[in-house]
Amino acid sequence: MSNVQENVKKIIEEATAKIQGVDALDALNEVRVAFLGKKGQLTSVLKGMKDVAPEDRPKVGQWVNEARETIEKHLEETKKDLEAKKLALQMESETIDVTLPAKKAEMGHRHPNAIALDEVERIFIGMGYEVIEGPEVEYDEYNFEKLNIPANHPAKDEQDTFYINKDIVLRTQTSPVQARVMEQGKLPIRMLSPGRVFRSDEVDATHSPSFHQIEGLVIDKNITFADLKGTLEVFARELFGPDTKTKFRPHHFPFTEPSAEMDVSCFKCGGKGCRFCKGEGWIEILGCGMVHPHVLEMCGIDPTEYTGFAFGVGMERIALLKYEIDDMRLLYENDVRFLKQF
Ligand code: DAH
Repeated sequence: MSNVQENVKKIIEEATAKIQGVDALDALNEVRVAFLGKKGQLTSVLKGMKDVAPEDRPKVGQWVNEARETIEKHLEETKKDLEAKKLALQMESETIDVTLPAKKAEMGHRHPNAIALDEVERIFIGMGYEVIEGPEVEYDEYNFEKLNIPANHPAKDEQDTFYINKDIVLRTQTSPVQARVMEQGKLPIRMLSPGRVFRSDEVDATHSPSFHQIEGLVIDKNITFADLKGTLEVFARELFGPDTKTKFRPHHFPFTEPSAEMDVSCFKCGGKGCRFCKGEGWIEILGCGMVHPHVLEMCGIDPTEYTGFAFGVGMERIALLKYEIDDMRLLYENDVRFLKQF
């Protein structure tokens, strides 16, 4: 009997010593298994119960239970200690040094084209225009035919135009949007249409096979060339400064009659002539004109009732002038160091 009691005592001592020596949670679990598990030391005492006299068995049972409680209490305490230590270590190793300088996220920058476009849109939206975009891949019919450019017209030269097939092209101008909007028949029209256009040009400081234009169109009753001039003068002054003067030179575009090109007084020298305006005092800005009656007719508008004007601006040209950039290629490289200057 006392043998068994001795044995249980020894088990408690041994277990306690082992538990004290443990420094990790999994090692602690091994101790639990070794003493309290199915094949553990304490369990084997119970298994030896058959050799104990029946009247002593309750006593033995009680010792074993007490021993289990004691060992479990030690295990639990040590488990809590180890967990706390583990957490403390983790907190220490994962501290964030809030005094370290943060990594800066690389920010991009708005493109000069986009800045210039916003400016132009702001001016025209202020005059009641709506911004409408058209497709970049366009029917020959809209890009040419409906704009009074028939099949044998030199503007259709295959050297200038990217053909997808006989009937479909990459639009060479934003003017086809005029025809698309007029065809819808919602009058009056006051629209601005910016977008990408394509021409089979070699790349150099002033040319690119893909560039951007901004188209404008106004159709209403009693629209005259005076409206065109007044509108574009306001536009020029808003964009290039209040002292800007405008000059309209006669020109030819197939879809307008009469047609003109508008120059603005050089905003660098005020018109005296400088390197910027190549000594001219004037800088060419856009093409414009009164919408040709035949174009109105082809788009379903009665030219005896309605008249209108249109204009087309090169977006890159505006950006190059406004930001004094002397090579168009810089606009397409998108080097952030370049873009950040604007
Ligand atoms: N589409 C012409 C071009 O690409 C520019 C232009 C001229 C547009 C006169 C117009 C206009 O709307 O009236 O050269």
